[in-house]
Formats: sequence, structure tokens, C-alpha cells
Amino acid sequence: MGISFDKFDGVIWYDGKLVPWTEATLHVLSHGLHYASAVFEGERCYGGEIFKCTQHSERLKRSASVLDFEIPWSVAEIDAAKRLVIEKNNFRDAYVRPIAWRGSEMMGVSAQSNTIHLAIASWQWPSYFNPEERLKGIRLDLAEYRRPDPKTAPSLAKAAGLYMICTISKHRAERRGYADAMMLDWQGRVAECTGANIFFVREGVIHTPIADCFLDGITRQTVIELAKRRGIEVVERRILPDELTGFSECFITGSAAEVTAVAEIADWRFTPGQITKQLMDDYTAETQPKAAAA
Ligand SMILES: Cc1ncc(COP(=O)(O)O)c(C=O)c1O
Repeated sequence: MGISFDKFDGVIWYDGKLVPWTEATLHVLSHGLHYASAVFEGERCYGGEIFKCTQHSERLKRSASVLDFEIPWSVAEIDAAKRLVIEKNNFRDAYVRPIAWRGSEMMGVSAQSNTIHLAIASWQWPSYFNPEERLKGIRLDLAEYRRPDPKTAPSLAKAAGLYMICTISKHRAERRGYADAMMLDWQGRVAECTGANIFFVREGVIHTPIADCFLDGITRQTVIELAKRRGIEVVERRILPDELTGFSECFITGSAAEVTAVAEIADWRFTPGQITKQLMDDYTAETQPKAAAA
């Protein structure tokens, strides 16, 4: 077990000020903690540049408005704060975690007058999955929990409460020896993983589920664009679990996971191949243009 996240060195941007890492605390009677009224982002900084910085800040603002609160900082201010955190912590390659939450003024389901807080932390987080397995392919369990109907939960927001079923599913997968779990949606169709979107390949064509009840990841959108630039056809459609036998390759995408090959999902088998490898390389070149050119 490494050092606990509340004990790192460095600074965190907290409600407009840079504070020492260990002092970025909140009261136990915070609405965000009791009622999950919190939204967050996960971003990566490569060579000093935050990838799709503004898109992430816009999504953070959108997620908050889905939860019926407004973050009292503009997208430009959030972008500047994230860059300041990177600079003050002397990072080049790092993960960035903004989080906004409702404070303590009201403690009940209603929180009409609660103050909205925003904090931005950053740390060094090399690879979400074991780097050796990223090309060889990770093993996924099939989760018992399903992504909820958008009429049941704010499915398209990056909201803390939606991760309850992700943590339970990931823990179960890890106990069973898997790296992560693939989740179906409320109608039993393939959805995504606990923190990443999923893609399949059959006869040179990429297939991926329609993102209408889970996060349409910024990495997902980037990879679709990269594939199209290569002339690879990408089909967004409903995918039933029974179809998984027909796919040769599988990979997942996310700001933390980047592009990671998948070798197994429960009893289904895949062989990481040319398209997965190409998109891993293209994603690296897209996120780290200077390193790729050097
Ligand atoms: C549940 C879930 N789906 C998908 C993604 C991928 O999103 P992005 O590519 O924007 O990081 C994430 C990552 O944050 C996630 O947590």
C-alpha cells in the first residue's frame, strides 16, 4: 500500500486559493458526502499540457447543472486553476482531479442554499492498469450491476453517486482475479467498464455501444475520431452480450485507462490485434505530440 492520498506533498486549489495538500479538508456535515451531490473530472496532463482541458471543464460544469447546481467559476477560470495546480506542483505528466460539491448550510435532501465548493488536485499516476497488460490485454469480469436507465439516474453526468455500483463491481472483479468488470445496461446490452468505455473489432470494423445511458467519454470521442482519420469504419450501435463471440479484438478507453487492450471478458476471448495497437499508438501521438515527434 502506498502513501495515503491525504498525506501527499504539494498544493491543492481549493475555492480559489492554493492550500497545502494536507489542509485541503472539508467538514463531515457536507451535503456532497451524505447525499453524493458531487461531480468530478479525471484528466491527464502530458508534457505540461492538459489533454482536452477545456472539454473537461465544460463537462464538469454540465455535470453540476444536471445535479441542479452551478459551479461559481467559469470554464476559463477552471482551466486556469488546473494549469496553476500543474505548475505549482512542478508536474509535466500527471493526473488532474477537479471536484465540485455542495457544502454544509443545509443538511437534508433539500440543499437549495448550500455553498458550492470546487477543489482541484493533481498527482502522478502512471498507468491505470498494469503496463505489461495494456497491450497483452487485461481480463474483465462481467458485473452484476447494470448501468441505470437515464430516467432513473443522471446517467450522462460524471457524478460521484454513479460510481457506487462501479466500486462494488470492481471490488468483486478484483476478488475474482480480474482487472476490472464490464457492465451491461439496464436493458441487458453491453455498456462500458467501471471507469472506461468499451470497443470491439470484427473484420476491420469497430463496434461500440451507443452512449445514451453512460458517459460518452472524451477519450471515446477522441478514439472514434482517430479511427475515422485512419479510414476505419466505426459503428455505434446496440450490442448484445451474445454477439461477443464474433469479435476478434476488444479495447477500452478513458482518461485514466487511455487505450487498453482486453484479452478476456468472463468466458469470451479476444486477441489484441492491429487495430487496437494502431489506436494505442495514435492516442499516444495525439496526447503527447512533442514526444511522438522527437
Ligand atoms: C464510468 C466511466 N465511463 C467512461 C469513462 C471515460 O471517460 P473519459 O474518456 O472522458 O475519461 C470514465 C472515465 O472517467 C468513467 O469513469
